[in-house]
Amino acid sequence: MTDNRPARILGIESSCDETAAAVIENGSLLLANSVATQIELHKKYGGVFPEVASRQHILSVYPIIEETLQKAHLSWDDIDAVAATRGPGLAGSLVVGFNAAKGISLARNLPLIGVNHLEGHIYSAWVKPETADHFSPPQFPVMALLVSGGHTELNLMEDHLSYRRLGATLDDAAGEAFDKVARLLGLAYPGGPSIQKAAELGNSTAFNFPRARLEGGWDFSFSGLKTAVLRMIKKLEEESREIPVADLAASFQAAVVDVLVSKTLAAARHFNVKEIVVAGGVSANKALRTAFTGQGEFPVHIPPLYLCTDNAAMIASAGYYRFIAGKIDSLDMDVLPNWPLS
Ligand code: KG4
Ligand code: ZN
Repeated sequence: MTDNRPARILGIESSCDETAAAVIENGSLLLANSVATQIELHKKYGGVFPEVASRQHILSVYPIIEETLQKAHLSWDDIDAVAATRGPGLAGSLVVGFNAAKGISLARNLPLIGVNHLEGHIYSAWVKPETADHFSPPQFPVMALLVSGGHTELNLMEDHLSYRRLGATLDDAAGEAFDKVARLLGLAYPGGPSIQKAAELGNSTAFNFPRARLEGGWDFSFSGLKTAVLRMIKKLEEESREIPVADLAASFQAAVVDVLVSKTLAAARHFNVKEIVVAGGVSANKALRTAFTGQGEFPVHIPPLYLCTDNAAMIASAGYYRFIAGKIDSLDMDVLPNWPLS
């Protein structure tokens, strides 16, 4: 890093079905952000097909990095470190982005930083949205609710890079529940946006689905809710009644939102935090965003939609904080598909 300019990190993300690259300055200022999504490719399988994902990452990874540098009007000399998602995720997908980062690190003599995907999602709240005039980063202590396709957890952050995992889902992740229920309702993959769309025309109080509150702890559970939706569909089918897709979607969504918001607020109160961060793909959900922004108790940071789902800006931001903390990784480090956030 030169003394007279801010640190710039190139981030690379390829853990699932998006190949993404971004450059972030000082952990917050987005200089360029590119995502090559594979959603259309996987739609016909009703979910991510791992081998297809891996092959597409190979095709996309270098073009997307080149495109990102061009968009930022930067050359390799302007980059101080390369950060890439190390895990968790699909092994065959992770390895493509991570090996690209290793190659760049070796060829350009740049520090390599492995970033946990979940840590990355949380750091999306530190990225200044491109349209924001003013931006204040989250103030510690922070209660971070992470809701993605594979994970649902509450983390208490007292400082940068410090995570105390208070609780997590005991079965399905919130995004997984959205995806599974969407499939039950015959809605397209990915399920979250489809349920949200169907729910807009539905009545959220039409069905009183169960809320697993799991009192006395900070864990979540969504499989009972999914089963309740399945049972209701079966019952309606047996009675030869029409399936009210919109009402079922709206009632299911309301149950998920209710549990996520009430548990996060309870944890925020209990641990006396200053602010709340909500991140991960499910944080793109309109009903969840409205519920969090509508509570007047805590300031809440929810990234704009393009930073909620998988992207590399969040990886570059987390990479920056690891970089300034001197947490540089060695080239013989490997991907960790099941790497937990601890
Ligand atoms: O964070 P993400 O892009 O990938 C993982 O790290 O898993 O999250 C993907 C998940 C999927 O389950 C998807 O259905 C869900 O986020 N999702 C949503 C919405 N947009 C994406 N869930 C509810 N409402 C949405 N609008
Ligand atoms: Zn993700």
